[in-house]
Amino acid sequence: MTTARSIGVGLISVGWMGKLHSRAYTNLPIVYPELGIRPRLVQAADTAEDRIDYARDVLGYASGTTDYREVLANPEVDVVSICAPNFLHAEIGKAAAQAGKAFWIEKPAGRSAQETQEIAAAAAAAGVISAVGFNYRNAPAIEYARSLVAGGKLGRITNIRGAFFADYSSEPKGALSWRFIRDLAGSGVLGDLMGHLADLAHYVVGPVARVSAVTSTVYTERPKLPMGQGTHFAVVEDGEMLPVENEDYAALLVAFGGDAAGAVGTLEASRVSVGPRAQYSLEVYGTEGSLLWDFERMNELQLALGRSGPHVGYTRIMAGPDFGDFGRFQPGAGTSMGYDDLKVIEARKFLQAYLGENSAHADIRDALAANRVVSAAETSAASGTWEEVAPVEGTTAARRDAGGAAETTERHDDASDAGAGGAADHGAGPAREAGGTADA
Ligand SMILES: NC(=O)c1ccc[n+]([C@@H]2O[C@H](COP(=O)([O-])OP(=O)(O)OC[C@H]3O[C@@H](n4cnc5c(N)ncnc54)[C@H](O)[C@@H]3O)[C@@H](O)[C@H]2O)c1
Repeated sequence: MTTARSIGVGLISVGWMGKLHSRAYTNLPIVYPELGIRPRLVQAADTAEDRIDYARDVLGYASGTTDYREVLANPEVDVVSICAPNFLHAEIGKAAAQAGKAFWIEKPAGRSAQETQEIAAAAAAAGVISAVGFNYRNAPAIEYARSLVAGGKLGRITNIRGAFFADYSSEPKGALSWRFIRDLAGSGVLGDLMGHLADLAHYVVGPVARVSAVTSTVYTERPKLPMGQGTHFAVVEDGEMLPVENEDYAALLVAFGGDAAGAVGTLEASRVSVGPRAQYSLEVYGTEGSLLWDFERMNELQLALGRSGPHVGYTRIMAGPDFGDFGRFQPGAGTSMGYDDLKVIEARKFLQAYLGENSAHADIRDALAANRVVSAAETSAASGTWEEVAPVEGTTAARRDAGGAAETTERHDDASDAGAGGAADHGAGPAREAGGTADA
């Protein structure tokens, strides 16, 4: 039995993501017992008193506060989850780094590439580990897709098609939450969903190097939703109507660079689709095959390999225990993993990275890379011209050698070995981020 490695957790903001991070920490020892990681829920912060009560009384935090600075100053807190609205990410991310706390920050990180770069520079200067909430990377079918592309099974990648279409604001009286106000959110669906899609494209295919974009706002006014109440799925019948300040839809033409140079494609995102609920799809086409993944069918992959024979065309593959971390959640294919499970994997990757173990997790440099695609798209939509996307050094998405199911299996073996030999017990202190700023 591995000796427990106790890690004190602080939480900033107890909304949808704050609850989900908390459940992920709580489930981690159950899903990955051999790692011996024991997150302790130490302190939660929110400006809404009822959410602090919930964090303490239901989620199990030892204490709560209305001031996030108390969480960062708490000596019992080793790592912190930053699940606040976007406008607070740069301020809190930099403060967490300066306080020497490793942080798991929700996407999009900053409201702009500039803000994310400031957080990345603070993390690098303080040498703290960071992680970013790009959960779709962790889907076992995506890990497998990545390993197929990296292994050359699809041949040379020629083009991709990605579409993240959600209906959370398809109701004209869907709430004007902080997501629709530029000062609070930054961009609209570009930051909210396109950032996820850009990260998936980076993770599976390679870095986006050039962008041409159009955007549109379908509903220009919505009823106001006060901060700390409801969710952005809420419909408000008689609320005060205020202007929507950012885009509902975006379409990008993209050209890849780096080891994916020559590949091109389209990326779309919408928060007002009627029909697709959370249809987050990625299609990758190569000279020898193609694949298609859609979050609404998260545990499946459509795969076509070769161009002749009786089975030419797409075959439906169901993720099972051989894919990524699937076997940690379900014993066999066909019994589905869910969205929340992706966050348990993300928590494992974050805390293993904190403990100095290789986990190929998304970090703040990956957020910067995705943010640069989003910022280039905003500029292009205004200028009508193609925009260059400056590369980011050191992203985990660029670690082609470390992707896919093979890496996951290997990592578990390592972890078990360390546990059996006691080497991982307490001994591995908190890791420091590899040197160098994030392409500052
Ligand atoms: N990875 C994903 O799939 C995913 C999904 C949803 C949201 N997100 C991201 O997570 C973040 C939070 O989104 P959400 O949907 O959980 O938001 P939410 O609106 O549900 O919760 C936000 C919380 O922040 C609190 N808050 C406001 N000001 C605060 C302050 N000064 N100090 C502490 N708390 C404060 C609010 O009271 C509220 O409880 C956003 O950055 C969003 O983009 C990521």
